[in-house]
Amino acid sequence: MATQEKPDQYGVVGHPVEHSWSPFIHGMFAKESEQNLVYRLYDIEPAEFRRETLRLLTSGIRGLNVTLPHKEAAAELVNVLTPRASRAQAVNTIMFRADSSLLGDNTDGVGLTRDLEGNLGLELAHKRILILGAGGATRGILAPLLERAPTALVIANRTIARAQALVAAFRDMGPISCCGFLEIEGPPYDLIVNATSASLQGTMPELPPGLVSEETVCYDLAYGRGHTPFTLWAKQLYAGRVCNGWGMLVEQAAEAFELWRGVRPNTHSVLEALSRKV
Ligand code: ATR
Repeated sequence: MATQEKPDQYGVVGHPVEHSWSPFIHGMFAKESEQNLVYRLYDIEPAEFRRETLRLLTSGIRGLNVTLPHKEAAAELVNVLTPRASRAQAVNTIMFRADSSLLGDNTDGVGLTRDLEGNLGLELAHKRILILGAGGATRGILAPLLERAPTALVIANRTIARAQALVAAFRDMGPISCCGFLEIEGPPYDLIVNATSASLQGTMPELPPGLVSEETVCYDLAYGRGHTPFTLWAKQLYAGRVCNGWGMLVEQAAEAFELWRGVRPNTHSVLEALSRKV
């Protein structure tokens, strides 16, 4: 009688993590690409992150996604960082390698650019980009956006010193500058990305008029059911296109899946399934 092989184990560590759609997404990827794996949620508190994550990885788990608030701690935990994780100083994907070392990658930025270019058909070269927020989420997306050679990339943040630190860290990659929210100047931007966590608190920073036209794409990295305060703001200003972060979520997961399994999963069917669910 044929014996069923034990599935390889993967998962996501975060705190809180029960809201995560990653098990659904990776479950669909695995089914469609016929990969024998299970993917579970691990709620780990910050004080326990290092010990518990190492325990998971040494107990046979082949790879982990890392979500808030552990992405920076994960960059310190792993043995080797990919160049993009090293740039971001944040890790969202850990792979346990055959030599028992831990590789840390960051697939958030490429997840965003794949969604913008591949799914939404946007061209980013010679465009003006505004990013709201200067936290970990912004750090993860700056390099791939600057690699597309935009005309300008402006970071606006409540705490200007954080935005200035990002400008200093990424200045060598392209035309990046920063300001406070009320100092943002037009003409309207081609792309506005909300990378603040204000949406999660149900708020939206006050912004000056003249930033949005009917050509502007407004993209909220946050995702959930229905509108966020940022997507509502963009709709009210008749932005050309208004999106939230589901596409980025699925695309960053596909990058992680490919790193772990060597197989590129089909993201379109997962995006379709999610759009029926949320
Ligand atoms: P993340 O990893 O999600 O980016 P973070 O590093 O804590 O989380 O950064 C959160 C970002 O959202 C920061 O830019 C933060 O602004 P500050 O640097 O001034 O703290 C921004 N943010 C959070 N709440 C906000 C609010 N109510 N209004 C405006 N910006 C807010």
